[in-house]
Amino acid sequence: MKISPQQLCGHRGVAAHAPENTLTSISLVREMGLSWVEVDVQLTQDGIPVVFHDHNLLRCTNGVGALKDIPLVDLQQLDAGGHFSPTFGHETVPTLAAVLDQAHRDALHINLEIKTYPDSDIPALCRAIFTCLSASPISVDNVLISSFSLEALAVVRDEMPELARAILWDVIPGNWHEFRDLATFSIHCNYRYLTREKAKAVKASGLALKCYTPNEPTEVEALWAWGVDMMITDDPGKYLANQ
Ligand code: G3P
Ligand code: MG
Repeated sequence: MKISPQQLCGHRGVAAHAPENTLTSISLVREMGLSWVEVDVQLTQDGIPVVFHDHNLLRCTNGVGALKDIPLVDLQQLDAGGHFSPTFGHETVPTLAAVLDQAHRDALHINLEIKTYPDSDIPALCRAIFTCLSASPISVDNVLISSFSLEALAVVRDEMPELARAILWDVIPGNWHEFRDLATFSIHCNYRYLTREKAKAVKASGLALKCYTPNEPTEVEALWAWGVDMMITDDPGKYLANQ
């Protein structure tokens, strides 16, 4: 099956080829001909939205402790690329503002995943994102908000309803339709647990359906036939190679 770049979204930038959620990783998205990128957003200790996945700094930087406990000025001293390869040792954890600027320059659609943990201040995180978006040159039409947090999606619905919203579920629950008002654009689910019936129901609701994070195209051949609109993948090049 021929896959178009428009059916693919780079996950955390292009995480297979550069350190995840860094400006270099995000710059690869347009270089590969894609128009969608997914990144994770959290707050620093001083309330600045930054693009970072984990609760803890350990895996993706040379720092220690929780992201929520470090102010931006100290965070930006950390190496956020050396964990991937020494050649990326100059990378830092980018602010959301810098990422939005780059997405705007590259004419990307950006899927901002509001990444929450049990100790996250969800309203504060949402409001910091709204402030950042309002100050950014990027059009809200090119922004999709996604989250596993139903609380976060409700804040977006109530306070910035012009933003498109997607619910993230590892497994789409049987009662998913009860949460229909939290999604205006799409449902995102783990490709491993999608069933034909759930795919059919989501598509029939008028929402788009996206799957994360299949990195082997052969694993998801059936899903295209079920109507999945987009794969959010670390390695989009594998889909585009040899077509
Ligand atoms: O947005 C899709 C995917 O990123 C969700 O899971 O853990 O990779 O942020 P995670
Ligand atoms: Mg994510």
